[in-house]
Amino acid sequence: MNRIEMLIGRMTLAEKIGQLTMTAAGSAVTGPVLAGDSTEAIRAGTVGNLLNLVGPGPVHQLQRLAVEESRLKIPLLIGLDVIHGHRTLFPVPLAEAALFDPATWTRTAREAAAEAAADGIAMTFAPMCDVSRDPRWGRTVEGPGEDPWLGRQIAAAKVRGFQGAHLSDPASIAAVAKHFCAYGPVTAGREYAAVDVSERTVHEVHLPSFEAAVAAGVAAVMPAFTDLAGIPMTAHQGLLKGWLRGRQGFDGVIVSDYNAIHELLHHGVAADVPEAAALALNAGVDIDMMAGAYRQGLPVALERGLVSLADVDAAVRRVLTLKERLGLFDDPFRRGSRAETPAALAARHELAREVAGRSLVLLKCEREALPLPASVRRIGLIGPLTDAAAEMRGPWWAAAAAEGQVSVLEGLTAALGATRVAHARGVEIATDDVHGIAAAVELCATVDSIVLCLGEAAVMSGEAASRADPVLPGRQRELAEAVLARARALGKPAVIVLFCGRPLILPWLFEHADAVLVAWFPGTQAGHGIADVLTGRRSPGGRTPISWPRTVGQVPIFFAQRPSGRPADPRDHFTSKYLDVPNDPAFAFGHGLTYGRFRYTQLQVTPSRVTPADTLEVRVDLTNEGSRAAEETVFVFTHDRVASTTRPLLELKGFARITLQPGASGSVTVRIAVAELRLLDARFEAVLEAGEFDVFAGPSADRSTLLAQRIVLAV
Ligand code: NOJ
Repeated sequence: MNRIEMLIGRMTLAEKIGQLTMTAAGSAVTGPVLAGDSTEAIRAGTVGNLLNLVGPGPVHQLQRLAVEESRLKIPLLIGLDVIHGHRTLFPVPLAEAALFDPATWTRTAREAAAEAAADGIAMTFAPMCDVSRDPRWGRTVEGPGEDPWLGRQIAAAKVRGFQGAHLSDPASIAAVAKHFCAYGPVTAGREYAAVDVSERTVHEVHLPSFEAAVAAGVAAVMPAFTDLAGIPMTAHQGLLKGWLRGRQGFDGVIVSDYNAIHELLHHGVAADVPEAAALALNAGVDIDMMAGAYRQGLPVALERGLVSLADVDAAVRRVLTLKERLGLFDDPFRRGSRAETPAALAARHELAREVAGRSLVLLKCEREALPLPASVRRIGLIGPLTDAAAEMRGPWWAAAAAEGQVSVLEGLTAALGATRVAHARGVEIATDDVHGIAAAVELCATVDSIVLCLGEAAVMSGEAASRADPVLPGRQRELAEAVLARARALGKPAVIVLFCGRPLILPWLFEHADAVLVAWFPGTQAGHGIADVLTGRRSPGGRTPISWPRTVGQVPIFFAQRPSGRPADPRDHFTSKYLDVPNDPAFAFGHGLTYGRFRYTQLQVTPSRVTPADTLEVRVDLTNEGSRAAEETVFVFTHDRVASTTRPLLELKGFARITLQPGASGSVTVRIAVAELRLLDARFEAVLEAGEFDVFAGPSADRSTLLAQRIVLAV
């Protein structure tokens, strides 16, 4: 009999439930402690998993209790939200999505894993795979943006990065694909609110990234807090057991979200804790994070016959198998035993700087406002986010201290020298105090160019950070209006650097600023990455992974809309449009300028008649007609012209990047397996239907920028 079966055979019910329990831990002056519990629980084997404990010292201290003092010596599994870095932060996930670069997505996750593992962590609650088409929803910051195909690529890349080639590698950690599923379309963008989207949308939009995570070997999955059409995800047998375990063959661990099993009572589907515990276990949830519902409820649920011991054992088996795959039985101290070298840290900081710079999205650039010309002697750096080092971390900072983050002021000063940077905050991020605006306006006369750093505070996006009106908080608009008016009067260029975890809806700013550079929250090396782009050391390369609405009234807005029976026609009143705003977004998915200027000259799709086993080759020729070298991202979309169900007007199928010197021409080739043209028919079966498809290529989902070619599929 193997180790796991032997252990299960020897375990008491309390010890089994201990393996299905995850409790928060933290550090006190006296050493590591468990919230609302005592370290006795570890000795007794009634807590087998912890979250929020950091550092080899505290982690190993508690691990020692488990493997030396508990009866069965089962190691603890220790998890933390290592979302976009651990001690070194990379840009927030939405910003990283803007890179359209799978190799980098994997690399930053690998680095985050190495840092977290060196701190004793064995599991991260990432990647978040939730597609978001609603910037009101704060968690948009943590995800891949609006597109399911993009979500698939990111999910797979991140799982590979966190987990590496082997989970037992001391620098690997288990990934958790979350939040399963359809957490993004919460009602009206309000966090934790009910979700009610169609079965087709669930399958076409919200499940693909989880499918990709599972295919990449993700160790665990976390159900969303929310319900889906009346069934809370924590109790969703159809999707957890049927789709995830059944159809996808997922045999890893399902870990609940924080207190989510207890919240089944608030959802009103369980009358008491034993019922809640039974609903979750019967849906396939293995680990109860922070509700204590399994410990309290499962013994009673067993007595009542609501659950079977075989199901408890099956859950324990999955948890122990994960611990075994992580190498914890062989050496529970393998993570956190080796200190990281200074060279590794320096290389990681260099990577963080590069990725920060590359994730910036230049939404607008006129009057050659960027890059800042070398002739600019003095720059006026204005706004509440100029010297806001801690904010650069974004809403999930794991173990990254506020100290050590590089502000824009520090970054620009390091690049240009202190004498060339004049600084005024003007206002705070979100207070009503406007007395600093006058000094900021005065500063404009003494400088050659103005850079205004505006935006949200880090905690205004992320969990529990929905905003009905995602605009500039506090009195920042007043500051911006005053400074922009003064800059215009003085004939000086004004550039906005915008910090946000979601598209902010600022039509007036987009109209009046000369340039707008979206910085999101770029992480530890923020200031250097931003300075690299402002000074022209690096061309901005990020592309928005989410449509940028003109107004909240357009939400949800996304490029993959289905056709209307009455397509918008300005000459025809009775067509699908608004009376007060255009249908299209302020900036389309994929939009982002560079310091080059690319002209797309030709699209060639071969073969033009395909069969199911073929692969399409999409070749795009382009020329950099600008005066600077830059990297361009090319997107490939398709549209199924006639099908048995309505198909999105554009479906993303690929992207490629190319760097071209000024005046140079080149081409990129994107390969698309014809199987990718499948659709879900009326019975939700994936089928290939014969007929014509349009293939599009270009710099964004804005149709007016796309080249097109038609192909025919014969099946
Ligand atoms: C709640 C969040 O929804 C989830 O994403 C996170 O992993 C857990 N808290 C643990 O911190």
